[in-house]
Amino acid sequence: PIVARRHPPLHPPSAHRLWTLGPRGGSGERGGGWRATDRVAVMTPEIQELFDAARAIQRRAYAPYSNYQVGAAVRTASGAVYAGCNVENAAYPQGCCAEASAIAAMVGAGEREIVEVLVVADGDRLASCCGGCRQRIREFAALDTPVHTCGPDGIRLTLTLDQLLPYSFGPENLEGF
Ligand code: THU
Repeated sequence: PIVARRHPPLHPPSAHRLWTLGPRGGSGERGGGWRATDRVAVMTPEIQELFDAARAIQRRAYAPYSNYQVGAAVRTASGAVYAGCNVENAAYPQGCCAEASAIAAMVGAGEREIVEVLVVADGDRLASCCGGCRQRIREFAALDTPVHTCGPDGIRLTLTLDQLLPYSFGPENLEGF
């Protein structure tokens, strides 16, 4: 039989919470899917570290086809930060998202527990994490994990993973099979 691999337990809610939501976010209606009423995390030194890592690697993105460069950074339970950028391919479907690259770096370093995510891209529109990457994050993060969506100006929207991917399917759904 196919046995689901052992997965580290989901960490208790708020155990690693390093962020609080501001009363209002954004800086105005941009017509790009984010609003002045969107909630954004208050920038802390810990989030700034994620933002700086994501911005730094965003510049290394290989995106000659879309010209849309993305940087992502994840913090793990150990406190370490892993970053990734999108890597496109002439065979378009073979391209890789920034979040997937960051997760690959994390797993390659021997870590598996994401406690915070930050994604950054340029432009006025919300750099919303794609559906596939929401599921990739779901594999390694608890449902209350914050995902900060950023532009060059900073955080534009903070949602939990559960808000991004409600009623999701994860490793525990395979327990007992
Ligand atoms: N992209 C990401 O890296 N992350 C996302 O969540 C959205 C999309 C990349 C994939 C592709 O290289 C480019 O952005 C345009 O879709």
